[in-house]
Amino acid sequence: MNTKILYFVLTLIFFFVIIKESTGKSIPSSNVNPFNPLLKRHEEKKCYDYLVLTATFEDKKLTGVVTLAGDDSKTETFVYGLFSKGIEDPKKFTICLEDCNGKIVYNLTDDLDLKFDGHGGTKPFCAYIKLDIFKFYYGDGDKRKRQANGGASVVTGNPADSAPANKAEP
Ligand SMILES: *[C@@H]1O[C@H](CO)[C@@H](O)[C@H](O)[C@H]1NC(C)=O
Repeated sequence: MNTKILYFVLTLIFFFVIIKESTGKSIPSSNVNPFNPLLKRHEEKKCYDYLVLTATFEDKKLTGVVTLAGDDSKTETFVYGLFSKGIEDPKKFTICLEDCNGKIVYNLTDDLDLKFDGHGGTKPFCAYIKLDIFKFYYGDGDKRKRQANGGASVVTGNPADSAPANKAEP
């Protein structure tokens, strides 16, 4: 056989193998659902640890709930919540995250851009904040181990109140 033809045939076989390999193994990027990045993660067979915390205010001062959620793929936490009653002066109302050492690690007041209902409550609020939710909940110590000295909490100002951020177990 002519060497030119031989090279041509070998090149064809080579490309055929490459095409077979790529269609068999990789996921075309068009398969990634832009509305569900978790789907892509799943296909990549990567697992991320996640944490969902809820702080419920249900005392004489305030009624409301703040939910925090995040995974360890990035240091970003989703905040979602609502206060239904108890806020006296909306201009002075503040909301912060206090870690298990009683240290304020995040002041949410500006990020949440709260809208008030005029009756001591807020409209539903949400925000993505730059916060490592695992560090917030578990502290700096042994990862994935709850600290003994009290838990993380959500604290408010005007009125001064607080609610423990509890892990939402599945
Ligand atoms: C949180 O931020 C608000 C608005 O910027 C501010 O008025 C308040 O003093 C801050 N609170 C704390 C505890 O830093």
